[in-house]
Amino acid sequence: MTTKISASILSADFARLGDELKRAAEGGCDMIHFDVMDGHFVPNLSYGVPVLKSIRHCCGLPFDVHLMITDPLSYVDAFADAGADHITFHEEADCDAGRVIEKIRSRGLTAGVSIKPKTPAESVFPLLKSVDMVLVMTVEPGFGGQGFIPETLEKITAIRREADRLGLPTDIEVDGGIGRNTAPKVIAAGANVLVSGSYLFKSEDMAAAVRSLRGERTGR
Ligand code: DX5
Ligand code: ZN
Repeated sequence: MTTKISASILSADFARLGDELKRAAEGGCDMIHFDVMDGHFVPNLSYGVPVLKSIRHCCGLPFDVHLMITDPLSYVDAFADAGADHITFHEEADCDAGRVIEKIRSRGLTAGVSIKPKTPAESVFPLLKSVDMVLVMTVEPGFGGQGFIPETLEKITAIRREADRLGLPTDIEVDGGIGRNTAPKVIAAGANVLVSGSYLFKSEDMAAAVRSLRGERTGR
């Protein structure tokens, strides 16, 4: 599976968000990761539908929306209307996972389910046949720039092994603390979609940073 890079704008310069999206697209990123936080499911507030709507035209990359919110079912339509291409919700949210997945799919979007670091990998096994992607949080959700939690590596492997056993082409995405040093570890564990925020947006040369995440030569 090719390694896809999803640039999390949580660490971008919000005063120049349009330019930052263009920088991510020109730098070779595959998706834009849009972290939605409601200040209830996670102890932080980020951004929502109006911001997604206003930046949708800034770049043609797919918008990979990560809902860190208590009631994802109620917001699927609004994010789909605003231009989301993919929506991931949390297994730990207070919702009927099957209904959320069905709702996302009914809007023609791909669907993902995410688990926090302390949630066992097995909790998503019953959903593997229904989702396109599993997002394994490699930090506690809520803030960018945190340190990678190495104990999450075995969860990535367990989910990859179960998806392979079921013969499913499930994307496994990781999110939090992904940079030059942690990327090879998560790829070796079985992840194929890497979310990166602070590493990418704080880099001088985004294209070189993207290549380094993929394990390609950075020309230096
Ligand atoms: C946590 C967020 C962050 C963000 C990426 O809730 O989901 O993980 O996307 O953060 P970095 O790459 O800066 O650790
Ligand atoms: Zn995220």
